[in-house]
Amino acid sequence: MKQQNIRERWSSRTGFILVAAGAAAGLGNIWKFPYIVGENGGGAFVLVYLACILVVGLPIFMAELALGRLGARNVVDSFASIAAESGHSSRWTMIGWIGLLAVLIILSFYGVVGGWAFAYLATALQSLGSISEETTAPVEFAKAFNELAGDPVRSVVWQTAFMALTAAIVGSGVRAGIERLSRFLVPALFLLLGVMVICAAVTTGKFEAGFDFLFAPDFAQLDAEALLVALGHAFFTLGVGVGAMLTFGSYLPNGIGLVRASIFVVGLDTAMALLAGMAIFPIVFASGLEADAGPGLVFITMPIAFSGLPGGDILAVVFFAVLSFAALTSSPSLLEPIVAFVREKARVNRRSAAILAAALVWGLGLVQALSFSIWSDVAVFGKNLFELSTFTAISLLLPTGGILVALFAGWLVPARRMKDASGTQNLRLYWLWRICLRYVAPAGVAIVMLGGLFV
Ligand code: TRP
Repeated sequence: MKQQNIRERWSSRTGFILVAAGAAAGLGNIWKFPYIVGENGGGAFVLVYLACILVVGLPIFMAELALGRLGARNVVDSFASIAAESGHSSRWTMIGWIGLLAVLIILSFYGVVGGWAFAYLATALQSLGSISEETTAPVEFAKAFNELAGDPVRSVVWQTAFMALTAAIVGSGVRAGIERLSRFLVPALFLLLGVMVICAAVTTGKFEAGFDFLFAPDFAQLDAEALLVALGHAFFTLGVGVGAMLTFGSYLPNGIGLVRASIFVVGLDTAMALLAGMAIFPIVFASGLEADAGPGLVFITMPIAFSGLPGGDILAVVFFAVLSFAALTSSPSLLEPIVAFVREKARVNRRSAAILAAALVWGLGLVQALSFSIWSDVAVFGKNLFELSTFTAISLLLPTGGILVALFAGWLVPARRMKDASGTQNLRLYWLWRICLRYVAPAGVAIVMLGGLFV
């Protein structure tokens, strides 16, 4: 087991929690969560989402960390060795391959959206002090978004910047790169988001309307597709189902209990999503805008709203800093599984592996960045290349990976090993976890997936 000796580790429990919370809280929380809540009618959708987090997301999150601890290698070899040790077919290694494919695809579109966030931050910084003089017509901002996404050069330049930074962070190491960044950016993220919520509450006078929209359930708008969206998002926002958390779990020092750490991270992630909603919806409503603008919500609706608010130019900087930081603490968790794999297979050093992996992802992302401009007429199954990639990853690969991880951890790994790896002494909690993994999560995910895809 020479490999284990050279394996890096997180420095402490706090270090790990910040890294995992940074990975979990990302574009999913700030960009995606608010707009899917908006599209699916608010409170009822939020309730379903919270249920998915609790009975599917959290158990699988813990399972991935435990598997990472047991496997202590990259995702493919971890599944291979755990399957072999428990006397099962090496075919289970396939989960690792699905995971690698999924992180590759997810990071490829993540880089495009992360690039937009960077571009907006740059614009917000440039327009400090000048927003009120600019035209505030909604069409201008819609145009601004289309101009950015539709400009092949600008969008690719920002996508490249985002991917290069991600590569630099991961290339610097597990502790010196990923952990160091998260230690400083994750607290900053929470602080800035808190400031946003307070500003939104004070300057708009619409806090209640936003709060009601998030928390007052109206079940009329829930359909099978909304359930699939909620479930897919539970996986996406926690970063589970594809071996990213497994890879992070493989760097866990001994003696850190997984139950409390997981509950803490999942709680932070959920708090971050709800805070984002509480910052965004009051601002949207105060400007008389609609909540169901879809993916353009933070890039089109929010800038319009900012332009009508006192101090909106400063709020815009804060908001797009939040968005950029959130993206940048998440992207390393998507690159690291590939880097760990390449490094342990090909024995190249971390820096080269990071550059290689990022270049591959960048190439795949390039095609999607261009699907808003020169390749906008390329459609597969009625979706452009960007939509095709997000759909494949979020609605197909994530839930499939999630079911397989749950089945693997719940049925194939001996109960005692899972219990030891989790470090829990609480038998009741342990059995709850196991029941979720064995029955609730696989059955729930399968039903929701079939319902969402075919009904
Ligand atoms: N959770 C992140 C977000 O909400 C995205 C992310 C990071 C992710 N790592 C992941 C998604 C692994 C799926 C799998 O933006």
